[in-house]
Amino acid sequence: MESYHDYVIKDGKLIAKFDEMYTRFDDPWMQSQQPNRYSRSAGIIHIENFGIRSILECGCGLGYYANWIREETGITPVSVDISSVAIEKAKILFPHLNFEVANINTDLLKYRHVDCVLWAEIVWYILPDLNHIIEVLRENFQNKYLIVNQVFYKGTQKYGVEYFTNLDEFIKYMPFELLGKCEATRTSDSTIETSTIFRIS
Ligand SMILES: C[S@@+](CC[C@H](N)C(=O)[O-])C[C@H]1O[C@@H](n2cnc3c(N)ncnc32)[C@H](O)[C@@H]1O
Repeated sequence: MESYHDYVIKDGKLIAKFDEMYTRFDDPWMQSQQPNRYSRSAGIIHIENFGIRSILECGCGLGYYANWIREETGITPVSVDISSVAIEKAKILFPHLNFEVANINTDLLKYRHVDCVLWAEIVWYILPDLNHIIEVLRENFQNKYLIVNQVFYKGTQKYGVEYFTNLDEFIKYMPFELLGKCEATRTSDSTIETSTIFRIS
């Protein structure tokens, strides 16, 4: 049976057909159920702990986490996604929030006014441009915050293994100052939820 995963990463290769995926599937990654509750909650705690006032949420998908952030913190993130189909759907679901189509590989500069950049389960899809994005952050977002919510896999990762396979390797890869980290899983889960906060330096 066709799976939304086939439009994203298949057999260890990045496919990245996000518009086609959002056209064919109503709720990829079960976004409406907001899985990964440990890491999403930790992301919100990072926002509160560091007094963050404005956020660029990268890879917002259908907008459910933006809505959760707004409910918990009162902040309306600028929430962007590369898929115009996802953004159309997000605007219908959450008309009171702020959604835009943007590719963070090319459009980050437009958002340099924010306090904090949030990567919302997007790292695997930006790997080919990760070093470039890090440089753009370093040059244009000095002293601001980067929060990364990212799931890792318990031994089943096929794509991106040459970059990192767990939270410690990811932190080692990132050139910014680590300010906080959270890692959580249930023994029955096949994934490990993580949320980190860095100072961009
Ligand atoms: C795993 S989904 C995460 C959705 C949502 N943040 C969540 O956690 O439920 C990854 C999202 O990143 C978006 N995306 C992938 N590459 C992107 C890019 N270069 N710029 C902006 N968004 C991107 C995809 O369209 C997709 O909606």
